[in-house]
Amino acid sequence: MSQEIASALRWAQGQFDSISDSARLDAELLLAHCLQKPRSYLYSWPEQELPTSVHSEFEILVAQRLKPTPLAYLLVSREFYSLEFKISPVALIPRPETELLVDTTLQLCAGLQRPRILEMGTGTGIISIVLLKEKPDIDLVTTDISKACLELATTNARIHQVSLHCLQSDWYQALTALPGFDLIVSNPPYIAANDPYLSQGDLPAEPLLALTPGKTGLESIEKIVAGAPQHLNPGGYLIFEHGYDQAEAVEALLTTTGFTNIQNLLDDNQLPRVSLGQLPY
Ligand SMILES: C[S@@+](CC[C@H](N)C(=O)[O-])C[C@H]1O[C@@H](n2cnc3c(N)ncnc32)[C@H](O)[C@@H]1O
Repeated sequence: MSQEIASALRWAQGQFDSISDSARLDAELLLAHCLQKPRSYLYSWPEQELPTSVHSEFEILVAQRLKPTPLAYLLVSREFYSLEFKISPVALIPRPETELLVDTTLQLCAGLQRPRILEMGTGTGIISIVLLKEKPDIDLVTTDISKACLELATTNARIHQVSLHCLQSDWYQALTALPGFDLIVSNPPYIAANDPYLSQGDLPAEPLLALTPGKTGLESIEKIVAGAPQHLNPGGYLIFEHGYDQAEAVEALLTTTGFTNIQNLLDDNQLPRVSLGQLPY
């Protein structure tokens, strides 16, 4: 059955009201995606009849959204640092707060000549790709334990015309033969396994490997901090994202591992989100 743009949107918005705080926006983004047009097209042509094939695809996506499947997985794309990245259920959906990690990393390497950077747990590849776009002279190695994530990151790198040196590795395990790094950056999994947040909203659809490292939520961070001194050059920095309630534990870990100049940075919601430390010279 064919339908006009405006009434299809009203119908989908009504479906999404109970599962989304942005029901109208979700409906518009999905329909624009099916039509392969910008959202503004929906407002310019509200009375246009949808072709049957488009209408069928829209109905399928609305049904998937109601499961609920995250919007980003249905749109197969998400913006990060003003760039569009290909998304798939093998990887975490990029979060806006991770831009703080990228901004701080760029500040740390601003004065360095061809710094060697290691990114661990790359997922979609957003952090490494933005770093390479913003500072093309860096010498960067990017890792993930998931082969599927590395394939997705490589696809995103191709889309953004940068070349990624990818390695499949369980944190530092496959990196023993590599020379030291000036900077190690990571957005590791950090949600405790029993955190009720894991069963809310879109999170059940995202890979558990990307969200939780175990019982306390600190297991990955502990490994990353403990292994950093063997892989950083003297004076090198370790910088990583963590949960808003993990700043104290993270500071203690960095201190006992011998890091200096430890800093904790607040995200846009004024929550402690990124910590960094420097290895002494
Ligand atoms: C929170 S996601 C971050 C993804 C991406 N960097 C981002 O910021 O959107 C954590 C990533 O760490 C990876 N990961 C989990 N355990 C790992 C391990 N033992 N070694 C390496 N990577 C791991 C996951 O596959 C996932 O891609």
